[in-house]
Amino acid sequence: MNLKIVHIVFPFLWIIGAGVVNCSAQKLSVKGNGLKDIYKSDFLIGTALNSDQFQGKNALADRLIKAQFNSITPENVLKAEIVQPAWGRFDFSLSDRFVDYGVRNKLFIIGHTLIWHSQLPPFVEAITSKDSLRQFMSQHIAKVAGRYTGKIKGWDVVNEALNEDGTYRNSVFLKLLGKDYITDAFKQAAVAAPHTELYYNDYNIEQPRKREGAIAIIKQLQAADARIDAVGIQGHWHVGKVPYRDIEESIVAFAALGVKVMITELDLEVLPRNFSGADVSQRMVNSPEMNPFPKKLPDSLQRKLAIDYEQLFNLFLKHKDKISRVTFWGVADGDSWLNDWPVKGRTNYPLLFDRNYKPKEAFYRLLNIKR
Ligand code: XIL
Repeated sequence: MNLKIVHIVFPFLWIIGAGVVNCSAQKLSVKGNGLKDIYKSDFLIGTALNSDQFQGKNALADRLIKAQFNSITPENVLKAEIVQPAWGRFDFSLSDRFVDYGVRNKLFIIGHTLIWHSQLPPFVEAITSKDSLRQFMSQHIAKVAGRYTGKIKGWDVVNEALNEDGTYRNSVFLKLLGKDYITDAFKQAAVAAPHTELYYNDYNIEQPRKREGAIAIIKQLQAADARIDAVGIQGHWHVGKVPYRDIEESIVAFAALGVKVMITELDLEVLPRNFSGADVSQRMVNSPEMNPFPKKLPDSLQRKLAIDYEQLFNLFLKHKDKISRVTFWGVADGDSWLNDWPVKGRTNYPLLFDRNYKPKEAFYRLLNIKR
């Protein structure tokens, strides 16, 4: 199906309803029709991959990834607990495959993430001396960022260093090294991977108080002559409650500091949740009320999801001169981490493609905005 046909057929599909709006992903994967092509002159369109996906174990996902996205982030395999499970013992078996997948398919590869308080190997949690932690940090960054230099094009150097009120999170790094750990991490990453973009990444930094914290980090880095190229707003938002105004103000405020802005982990929660954000340690108990749509998302909610995605992309397009990338946190609904977080075993629907890797109404809306 070429662009023109999608354009002509689209309004008709709308009239006959969302249920029918599912012409196959296969047709949509015809060269030149993917989101990455449609938004080519605006920003990169990325997705997060799990290990089955970058090992090509899922043919449907594989086809969709290649057709729709031009950037990839590893969902887990570059996190410290996986690449350095024990002090000085590195395991790159999965991350090498992830990077190979990206190189083979000419995708803009993101490294996620070097310094983060979550998903740390247990030995780091147990470190109590400043010198040991400093040594861990510099070795980890040198080894991991150094290994993929030239292949990984951008690193989330520091992830989630802030509290909701904009103060620095009391992580093991802050406790032992003070706030200069952030500057050190960026400087070390710049040495290990000299031609790689360097990012600060966090959730809820569109919120005014936390935004101020992110601004303080960017200024701290700039004052210390440490290179920071962009800031990543994770973008784990909720249907019907997307904070458009805060997002816009943040895009403008970050860009005014001379850095690019990226939306790095976009998904829209459609299930009940009593808090916002993406603190991976936060949990809620499962119950039938917490998992209201185990078979199918009601059409009305599916439409709301589509409308929120459309409004978000309209906002991103308005600021495309400031935005370098929009990455979804997962390929299709069945892959999303939101099926297991903050409640284990739910059936969630936060992305553009359904469990059969077929496009949803939200996907068509994003295609159509640009026509
Ligand atoms: C999540 C992964 O998607 C899950 O598979 C894992 O169990 C926990 O971490 N912010 C981040 C990501 O920066 O690394 C997190 O990814 C989601 C929140």
